[in-house]
Amino acid sequence: MSIFQVCTLGRMCLWFLLIIGLLSQSQQGAAHFYKIQPGTFKEFQYINCQGTYNRSTYTKLIRICEECQNLYRNDYTVSLECKENCFQNEMFDKCVLSLLLAHKEEEYKNMITYASG
Ligand SMILES: *[C@@H]1O[C@H](CO)[C@@H](O)[C@H](O)[C@H]1NC(C)=O
Repeated sequence: MSIFQVCTLGRMCLWFLLIIGLLSQSQQGAAHFYKIQPGTFKEFQYINCQGTYNRSTYTKLIRICEECQNLYRNDYTVSLECKENCFQNEMFDKCVLSLLLAHKEEEYKNMITYASG
């Protein structure tokens, strides 16, 4: 049954359109609600960190991935790859080197061990 056939039923049509409108709005609301904010405990779980969530150290790790993403603007998945498996991946190491933070590598390794569990 097409939308035009429903509309031949007169008043029903208004209700139908109203309901469609409400549904599409609430879906957009839901999509917004489920968007995971960077630096949150939700994200921490999402990237499979099973250790201890410490907002201050976790934010430092996340920042590396985001600054790295800024560096490699044309490669849209850098940030995602960098966070994968709770930062235990090659991209994270590459990011630390690219951001000239090699001297802090040991410190980051400890943070990752703490976060990943
Ligand atoms: C989180 O980590 C920071 C830096 O290592 C430390 O100073 C702080 O005490 C930690 N916070 C908690 C709640 O463990």
